[in-house]
Amino acid sequence: MKKVEAFIRHEAFEPIRIELLELGFPSLSVTEARGSGRQAGIVEHYRGAELTSHLRPKIKLECVVADQDVETVVQVILKHGSTGNVGDGKIFVMPVEQAWRVRTGERGESILQAHREQ
Ligand SMILES: Nc1ncnc2c1ncn2[C@@H]1O[C@H](COP(=O)(O)OP(=O)(O)OP(=O)(O)O)[C@@H](O)[C@H]1O
Ligand SMILES: [Mg+2]
Repeated sequence: MKKVEAFIRHEAFEPIRIELLELGFPSLSVTEARGSGRQAGIVEHYRGAELTSHLRPKIKLECVVADQDVETVVQVILKHGSTGNVGDGKIFVMPVEQAWRVRTGERGESILQAHREQ
């Protein structure tokens, strides 16, 4: 298992969420994040808006998936997250040792899959 952790623009989140859902990845977490990239303190432009703060608001998206699904999830984030402008964000992938579904006590990779009974 791996955690895909992405810092993305707010505008990118909804299309990413929708495509991940369609592809069978409904489970994710989102946090309002603030951070800086390598242009710390430099003005950014996004669709006509000028952004001058040193700490830019970003969405932190976390999605734990099976190893073989990392590439799919990353490609969805790249597809919808890239505008070609600075500040599009970053994606990190890290190992996850174990996972449990609290309701049932099940563990392991199988708990990551979408299932019929909700
Ligand atoms: N190395 C890092 N560690 C943790 N968070 C990071 C790191 N790099 C970027 N971030 C987060 O991602 C956000 C977006 O970074 P950003 O897209 O500006 O990266 P960049 O390296 O400057 O690339 P670009 O040149 O495309 O802007 C930052 O505001 C921060 O929240
Ligand atoms: Mg940057």
